Amino acid sequence: MKIITTIADVPPKTSRRVLVPTMGALHRAHGELMRAARQHDDEVAVSIFVNPLQFEPGSDFERYPRPEKEDEEFCRKYDVDLLFRPEPNEMYLEDRSTFVDETALAQTLEGKSRPGHFRGVCTVVAKLFNILQPDVAMFGEKDFQQLAIIRRMVRDLSYKIDIVAVPTVREEDGLAFSSRNRYLNADERKQAPVIRKALLAAAEKKDVDLARKIIGEAPLARIDYVDLVDAETLQPIESVRPNSLIAAAVFFGKTRLIDNIHLS
Ligand code: PAJ
Repeated sequence: MKIITTIADVPPKTSRRVLVPTMGALHRAHGELMRAARQHDDEVAVSIFVNPLQFEPGSDFERYPRPEKEDEEFCRKYDVDLLFRPEPNEMYLEDRSTFVDETALAQTLEGKSRPGHFRGVCTVVAKLFNILQPDVAMFGEKDFQQLAIIRRMVRDLSYKIDIVAVPTVREEDGLAFSSRNRYLNADERKQAPVIRKALLAAAEKKDVDLARKIIGEAPLARIDYVDLVDAETLQPIESVRPNSLIAAAVFFGKTRLIDNIHLS
């Protein structure tokens, strides 16, 4: 496995390249993206970069986990060919003044709760695409809105990159894997699967309020949003219809977890 920390050192492609962009603190879901990437093409590249631009001021950028050695071992285990792990000052110059902004899909859900978040995501993903020149890039459905926005960006900016979606990977009790799960204390961890339970119940009964009610009954949970949107436009809708999405963001203590269920 080649480890690269500077843009200048990125090797030219000798075959098709599949990219798995991550922020590290790698877990089984990242592993699934890598496995899916491996099935796709010749060279598998993983990027690990905790992107300051997508964290709002006062959020968890500083305390975001950065287990460098474990992440490196993880990538080796998954047979990654190229690990791109730049420092922030390699990616962003102090006087940077150009950004990539998706202006429609980013208005709701995470975009509404975390102003500037998707501008940061789009800018860094566009940079990673330009730097690593992948033919294929893998994204997880856990971040459904992110996936939709990246697809839109690729379409609108004419990137010749196939975006492949990987289904959400979960713990046995239904909690979606997330790098932030490690912040949860034992009690919070015990209650966190309520998000999945609530979304399943809401989908079954076609009743979003039911999800709010179920999550509301978990004493340590504090709802940021539970919203019903059209899965194509991500705009709010009044009642469940074909191709809807119920998306939730829930705090347990300081830890904010997201999940969604797609009703296709
Ligand atoms: P990160 O949270 O590290 O996630 C990297 C990729 O793994 C994303 O595509 C995300 O959707 C996927 N992923 C995380 N947990 C998952 C789960 N439980 N099931 C399926 N996929 C999962 O998302 C980011 O980083 C950043 O925003 C990034 C795209 C790297 C840009 O900085």
